[in-house]
Amino acid sequence: MSSLWRRIGAHSHIRGLGVDGIEPKPIADGMVGQIKARKAAAIVARMISRGVMAGRAILLAGPPGTGKTSIAVGLAKELGADVPFVQISGSEIYSSELKKTEVLMRALRKAIGVKIHERRRIYEGVVVELNINMVQSPYNPYQRIPESVRITLRAGSEREKLRGDRSIAEQIIAQGVSEGDVIMIDSETGRVIRVGRCSEYAEEKYELSGEKTVPTPPPPVLKEKEIVYTMTLHDLDEMEAGRSRGVFSLLFGGGEEKEISPDIRAAVDERVKKLVENKGGDRWAEIVPGVLFIEEGHMLDIEAFCFLNRAIESELAPIVIITTNRGITKIRGTDVEAPHGMPLDLLDRLFIITTDTYNEEEVRAIIKERVRVEGVRVDDKALAALTKLGVEKSLRYAIQLIAPAYEVAKAKGRDVIAEEDVEEVAELFSDVKRSVEHLKRYEKELLA
Ligand SMILES: Nc1ncnc2c1ncn2[C@@H]1O[C@H](COP(=O)(O)OP(=O)(O)OP(=O)(O)O)[C@@H](O)[C@H]1O
Ligand SMILES: [Mg+2]
Repeated sequence: MSSLWRRIGAHSHIRGLGVDGIEPKPIADGMVGQIKARKAAAIVARMISRGVMAGRAILLAGPPGTGKTSIAVGLAKELGADVPFVQISGSEIYSSELKKTEVLMRALRKAIGVKIHERRRIYEGVVVELNINMVQSPYNPYQRIPESVRITLRAGSEREKLRGDRSIAEQIIAQGVSEGDVIMIDSETGRVIRVGRCSEYAEEKYELSGEKTVPTPPPPVLKEKEIVYTMTLHDLDEMEAGRSRGVFSLLFGGGEEKEISPDIRAAVDERVKKLVENKGGDRWAEIVPGVLFIEEGHMLDIEAFCFLNRAIESELAPIVIITTNRGITKIRGTDVEAPHGMPLDLLDRLFIITTDTYNEEEVRAIIKERVRVEGVRVDDKALAALTKLGVEKSLRYAIQLIAPAYEVAKAKGRDVIAEEDVEEVAELFSDVKRSVEHLKRYEKELLA
């Protein structure tokens, strides 16, 4: 991907919790300070990995900008890419055509992985010859479309010539397969998987892409192999729903936004349970409970909380992490005030981790880390100015000013952000307190 187009997410510098075992290092993996919260999160990560977190949930509570989301992202990184991690905001349950509980149900089921092991007959080898037969599209005279494909695969010293239909040709094009790549083709379904660049070819043709290479597969080309892939319960629900809707979903569309009936989910659960019991067979599965991360937990309402409370207890439940920056507030949908706007029976079963505001040194370290990730440079005075804004206004505000300050520096022909650039953008972009005061002044004038 071109670095020009690389969007720098607010949490892209977080690579983990920065711990050694469960002990947080002061600055590591992009995380700074917040030692207690990070240690607690590291313990939770271990419990999740060992499968002893079922039926529990975590609340991350602390003032805005104190790293709650960062810690959750770090925790997800610690768990690894195979563990599903689903992020929603509490307010999202209101913003859809779907019932609130359906939105939550979907999110919960997206957070549960089903790792499927399957023995399949596949063709596997290095592509040594590739000819895609293109024809003119019957619908669009200016477009040429693939019609069929001829491939020669080599495994060890064995070669096999294959002919594929249009669907295989399309998959080959879509995945950018070229000569010298190792691919697998399922003998029954025709599904194509590009495994990677073959190491033999990578050496010959001085590859610069930095892609990991794979060895030439051993013979024969057509073989039985265990394929492992992870789907979520939600994927399986969608597939099952698609099957039962049949052709109607094609005619009337809208499959995505339709509710999935409890019957369908029950059928999926049944099937998954059977697969789990079939361990060691030709087709079997393991459950990988992931994490459902709900930001702005106080935006959920009483109905959603009751639903979650029950869902956490169910047999197939992910680990739920909720964040909030509210203290005592009303539980939505009621007149009851409660800590973090959450019902006590739910609070009671949560592990609560709190985050604290930062001292000046930590603010400086976090800004330094962000500057590094955004690929820009600041001089010492500019760093001091940003740190001051981070302490006096807010950490987020200071972090946000880095990119515009760099634009100003570049416009002045410099490559390093100077103090004056920071001062200038702080004038141009208001922090919240100042923008509110600004409006108040106008309101007064209007009333006078
Ligand atoms: N301990 C930390 N180490 C590194 N970066 C941090 C840390 N804390 C906060 N940041 C950075 O500061 C910004 C705000 O942090 P974050 O979004 O995690 O706060 P939050 O507690 O989730 O806030 P809110 O309550 O508003 O959701 C982010 O850009 C984040 O990457
Ligand atoms: Mg947050």
